[in-house]
Amino acid sequence: MKKRVLTVNGPACAGAIILLCAACACPHGPGKTGALALTPQMGWNSWNKFQGRVSEQLIRETADAMATNGMKAAGYQYVNIDDLWQAQQRDAEGNILTDPTRFPSGIKALADYVHSKGLKLGIYSDAGAHTCGGRPGSRDHETQDAQAYASWGVDYLKYDWCDVDGLQAPAAYKKMSDALRATGRPILFSLCEWGTSKPWTWAKGIGQSWRTTGDILAKFDGLIDHDGKWQEHGVLQILDLQVGLRQYAGPGHWNDPDMLEVGNGMSENEDRAHFTLWCFLCAPLIAGNDLRHMSPETLKILTDKDIIALNQDPLGIEALKYSAQDGVEVWFKPLAHGAWAVCVLNRNKEPRRITFDWRNEKVTDDISKRETKFDTTTYRMRDLWKKQDLGTTETPLNAEVPGHDVLAIRLDKK
Ligand code: GLA
Repeated sequence: MKKRVLTVNGPACAGAIILLCAACACPHGPGKTGALALTPQMGWNSWNKFQGRVSEQLIRETADAMATNGMKAAGYQYVNIDDLWQAQQRDAEGNILTDPTRFPSGIKALADYVHSKGLKLGIYSDAGAHTCGGRPGSRDHETQDAQAYASWGVDYLKYDWCDVDGLQAPAAYKKMSDALRATGRPILFSLCEWGTSKPWTWAKGIGQSWRTTGDILAKFDGLIDHDGKWQEHGVLQILDLQVGLRQYAGPGHWNDPDMLEVGNGMSENEDRAHFTLWCFLCAPLIAGNDLRHMSPETLKILTDKDIIALNQDPLGIEALKYSAQDGVEVWFKPLAHGAWAVCVLNRNKEPRRITFDWRNEKVTDDISKRETKFDTTTYRMRDLWKKQDLGTTETPLNAEVPGHDVLAIRLDKK
């Protein structure tokens, strides 16, 4: 009885749920996934840097780092284990097992440890019979796996799409979503289907985010094959694939252009541009570098509160591409309280000078139903990375943007 009542979704039931929850003293609150990821989730995931080299030691040390290096204070919360935490086989009853060498203490002990740092633990599985790394997937074991995760205290599930012969993505993801919900534990559900069946058209209400593309690489600009299709997804290729998707994202349901590659080998300019763009896109901010050993520059980018505030803005509206010329793009993001953020992206390797006379420009946003009125409204301008006030929109912006870098400006009404 408890489980059925506690899995009710939606704000109308929130009062009743709180009462019921208090009555049954459930420790982690009800399974109301609608309340998860009201702003894009923030955390870390092992894949981009470590691939199969995961272990409980790595996860503990990562949690230690996140809790103490300023990331937790900046809003990062989830410590997520990606593929290859599982043993090669299930047990005779079909229970999923933990790789005994890499995770000898088991996931429950790890979750307890991560929770003791005030953080949350995420895990990974796959809708098919095997994960992309060849470990047992959750196909036909959805309920059993969801219950195992909940009993261990897992807070987040990334769910991949390998080895899925004969499956339809909407039904397969709904099955796991229902299984998670039925546990009564709020477990953030992150779909990783690479955009193949346009999850933005069906996954709202099933999970809190869905991948929109194939895997990101730690490259700013990828490669194109002979047919004109992108072969390698660098930051710019993934950015271009987001066009047309912004109307599908919002609080509790985000487009996911894949995890961050900040600190994984791009230049500082490129890392800054990548992070800024992901914040403008309302992307889940899942760091993918080694948090135990990173440069001060990397940490500074990952923890910039002004840039993160754009990502975490309560309106939850993605930026729109306003103009593009000679490899220089101007993006506008509507923010709460009538504010805007502006990103000038220089896709070229060389610096570019930009002059932008606000009073000659007008941004109309169909999603937020807002428009800039620079002729009648004056905004204060602040350079968010340089932490400098730039005057007001009565004066044209005149700035040089380094190659593969951005200028990020916040406009607040004067
Ligand atoms: C897929 C996903 C990646 C990662 C790997 C793990 O490629 O898209 O993000 O999870 O599988 O095998």
